[in-house]
Amino acid sequence: MGPIDPIEAAHAEEVWPLSIEAGWNQNVADWRFMLGAGRGFGLRGADGRWQASSLVLPLGQRLAWISMVLVTKDLRRGGVGSELLKRCIEEVRAAGAVAGLDATEQGRPIYLPLGFHDLYKISRWHLDRVPTTHVPPPQGIALRPMVLADLPRLATYDRPLSSMERPTVLAHLATRQPGLAAVAETPSGKIAGFVLGREGRIATSLGPVVADSEAIALALIARATAATKPPFIIDVPAAHREIGAWLESEGAVSPRGYMRMTLGTAKGLDDLSHVFALAGPELG
Ligand SMILES: CC(C)(COP(=O)(O)OP(=O)(O)OC[C@H]1O[C@@H](n2cnc3c(N)ncnc32)[C@H](O)[C@@H]1OP(=O)(O)O)[C@@H](O)C(=O)NCCC(=O)NCCS
Repeated sequence: MGPIDPIEAAHAEEVWPLSIEAGWNQNVADWRFMLGAGRGFGLRGADGRWQASSLVLPLGQRLAWISMVLVTKDLRRGGVGSELLKRCIEEVRAAGAVAGLDATEQGRPIYLPLGFHDLYKISRWHLDRVPTTHVPPPQGIALRPMVLADLPRLATYDRPLSSMERPTVLAHLATRQPGLAAVAETPSGKIAGFVLGREGRIATSLGPVVADSEAIALALIARATAATKPPFIIDVPAAHREIGAWLESEGAVSPRGYMRMTLGTAKGLDDLSHVFALAGPELG
């Protein structure tokens, strides 16, 4: 195996073919953001092309997300994935943080022996059309477009509910799909939930959705689907059966899922009472 090289934000376009090969939804804007806000580690072939990638995205001082662990098909089962992962873990440990990730079925066998343990199951839903049912918010709650001035309050609302400190991620997503981003408010103007999302290579990705209640979350999801173009993908913790049931009633399918895993204990990360959709396996 050759040396592990840093992947810079300027390499976003060069490294993108790896996620395309895996059939993943990220676009160049996703790679550029993640490599800029986090640190990438990869492997180049003799021709200079990226053959493998991985990255660490800090979500505050205590948690860091490991993502984009990709090895080009010809190089798999040679230990490259494990080596990159170990590099990422070193990085997270050096920062004194806990590592989190969302494992695919292919990724889980390399994470388990490294000490990662299962936190909860996530269903990935695919929805090819705009839902037909109107889902109004509960009485007294109003939905409105998010504006950039909401971001500081949004980060304060999000932190205790998601157990992630991610103002950078929220601010980035708010600029990606401004038409989709929405806030739920009480009559006194208190935030009661929000939805963000982003366009992807194959589908519009919806999430995160954090809200005071499931009814508010559902209204936010329905609003977001009406504000942008299908197809959609949305990652919902499997425990939120009502959200899954609604998506299914609208024709969504969930052929596969992920396992959220951590190395160490991240306090509160397993509390799903207000987390109805995730930012995505690459963003936490
Ligand atoms: C997952 C992935 C990164 C693994 O990369 P890799 O370089 O092949 O991994 P390694 O060679 O380090 O594998 C380490 C061990 O994991 C296990 N493993 C890896 N792939 C496996 C598979 N498909 N089935 C069963 N076990 C597997 C094996 O125990 C393997 O050791 P071995 O080859 O000595 O038996 C690669 O398959 C990939 O890019 N897949 C598509 C993208 C993806 O799913 N990424 C993970 C996101 S969470």
